[in-house]
Amino acid sequence: MKNFEYYTPTKVVFGKGTENEVGKLILQETKDACVLVHYGSGSVKRTGLLDRICKSLDDAGIKYVTLGGVVPNPRLSKVYEGIELCKKEGINFILAVGGGSVIDSSKAIGYGVANEGDVWDFYDYKRVPEACLPIATVLTIAAAGSEMSDSSVITKEEGWIKRGVSADCSRCRFAIMNPELTMTLPDYQTSSGEVDIIMHTLERYLGQGKNMNITDEISEGLIRTVIKNAKILVKDPSNYDARAEIMWAGSLSHNGLTGCGVESMDWASHQLEHELGGMFDVAHGAGLAAVWPTWARYVVDANPARFAQLADKVFGISDKGSDMANALAGIDAMEQVFRDINMPVTLTELGLKDLTDEQIDELAEKCSFGQTRTIGGVKALNKADMINIYTKAR
Ligand code: NZQ
Ligand code: ZN
Repeated sequence: MKNFEYYTPTKVVFGKGTENEVGKLILQETKDACVLVHYGSGSVKRTGLLDRICKSLDDAGIKYVTLGGVVPNPRLSKVYEGIELCKKEGINFILAVGGGSVIDSSKAIGYGVANEGDVWDFYDYKRVPEACLPIATVLTIAAAGSEMSDSSVITKEEGWIKRGVSADCSRCRFAIMNPELTMTLPDYQTSSGEVDIIMHTLERYLGQGKNMNITDEISEGLIRTVIKNAKILVKDPSNYDARAEIMWAGSLSHNGLTGCGVESMDWASHQLEHELGGMFDVAHGAGLAAVWPTWARYVVDANPARFAQLADKVFGISDKGSDMANALAGIDAMEQVFRDINMPVTLTELGLKDLTDEQIDELAEKCSFGQTRTIGGVKALNKADMINIYTKAR
């Protein structure tokens, strides 16, 4: 078993009506809070959630200003706008009301206020953030796991570059999770989030060694649970219990739990998808669904036994005669899950049917950081491999 650290400082407040406790929870964190309420492109206004949040803050006597307009694949320009606003208003606490994009934008603003210099330096790996304003969230979509993760992913419009930075100081102080809030999601976003949750687990699981049984069991159970409840939500989107299972799975999949003792994580599918998100603004989970089956078939020969374990423990497939045959049947089964929840399994289905060879070259050039890195723990992939995968995924 490999040595590991597990750090999850985020207080989780889970269940119906919990968003109304937000004012009280902020007061528990700090008595003199001056809050930036950060949100997305309008869903929280349409659903009335923003009004309820503001009422809770008013009732608690908390000063706040609001800043909406975060878009999926959140933009650096909005981060700069938020940093300016926070400095002008003396903000000392950020409340993200929304999904991964809003939380990630909040974390970036938090870095920008708490550190000198250009915040993009952190996303460009020139510097490491030393501090962050305190962040908390009222989560409205089960997907990215940013509510408990140490990560933030931002897209710079100049060059359409999407990059992530990780630092413990950005972890949310608390995360309010009411599964009912996710019932207003478009079906596509619900499914996209479910894929992301599965993928956060698989990226860790597939690089796993042989002697971390408890982490394997947690991961396999988590993936089975998401698949089972995702299929329920396709038919019955208002099913509270299924929403709750998926929302909690989303946090557990990306708060470090499924990585404890893991020998080498993969993350290649995420890196390949981030370039798609940056250049073509696709939904993150849908982009993952579109590349994962091709990636998996491309690398499976590096560790068929591991993929065969996934096939056995998640899909009950173990009768195909060899590890490789079981592994391939497991990949087929996962691909079918994506289809069953109406997710794309190719780039064409993702909406990129006219993707050119030149665009693929640009994606791979960016993903390889100008051919200065490889990606992936199952098998190290260079630019030529990336081109092969994008091309086969078309
Ligand atoms: O902006 P609004 O109007 O709120 O609409 C959003 C958005 O269009 C909508 N939505 C969210 N909650 C809703 C709702 N619509 C109706 N009812 C609700 N309750 O859903 C759309 C997607 O929202 P977004 O926040 O973009 O989704 P998600 O949580 O999937 O976040 C995606 C971003 O997170 C990054 C992704 O790359 C992407 O940029 N990731 C962040 C990670 C992290 N910080 O740890 C890890 C992930 O791997 C991922 O890379
Ligand atoms: Zn993800």
